[in-house]
Amino acid sequence: MNKTIISPSILSADFANLGRDVKELQDCGADWVHVDVMDGHFVPNLTIGAPVVKAIKPYCNIPLDVHLMIDNPQNYIEDFVKAGADIITFHYEAAGDLTEDIINNIKSHDILVGLSIKPKTPPQEILKYLLMVDMVLVMTVEPGFGGQEFMKNCADKLPVIRQNAPENLIIQVDGGINKETAQICKNLGANSLVAGSYIFKSANTEEAISSLKII
Ligand code: DX5
Ligand code: ZN
Repeated sequence: MNKTIISPSILSADFANLGRDVKELQDCGADWVHVDVMDGHFVPNLTIGAPVVKAIKPYCNIPLDVHLMIDNPQNYIEDFVKAGADIITFHYEAAGDLTEDIINNIKSHDILVGLSIKPKTPPQEILKYLLMVDMVLVMTVEPGFGGQEFMKNCADKLPVIRQNAPENLIIQVDGGINKETAQICKNLGANSLVAGSYIFKSANTEEAISSLKII
């Protein structure tokens, strides 16, 4: 399997200095920058939208990994593409019957597409989409907030997905990732790690990012 893709989440960044923080992540070895978009409806928190993605785009050359935790994702794809998203991940629970259409819409813009599941969604429900997407994001906390505790039972979905996936599928985990939980997820088949509070609370960003790589 290829190297692990580290995607620090800017949910834990200084929102008054996002450009600076995004540039620092890039300088400290991040592979992608993870942007958490929340609508206060699909999840009980409000964060940022496409204008903020557009604003941070000039501050980094690494891919912007946009995680949509919103209802009706089909209505917002073009906005995020125009803003500069390089990967758009949406939730299966929000898309339902529109999942395949949304996958095709995102792909038509020549960017990567990810499909995410919340803790209570069984992995079997998305197996039929594995050949259509570039990435599956397995949430290891209930989406909505940074700094929550890792749910091991969610990581147990990873082998089910890996065993049914094409070889090049990226499997990302998000929520409660630190050096120890990263190791658990990697052993179970993940090859992309999102980490927010672990990286931003650490005294040394570069060391925190590389500690997730050396596993
Ligand atoms: C949670 C978000 C995560 C969050 C992770 O809903 O999707 O990306 O920022 O934060 P930590 O790493 O602190 O759990
Ligand atoms: Zn996220």
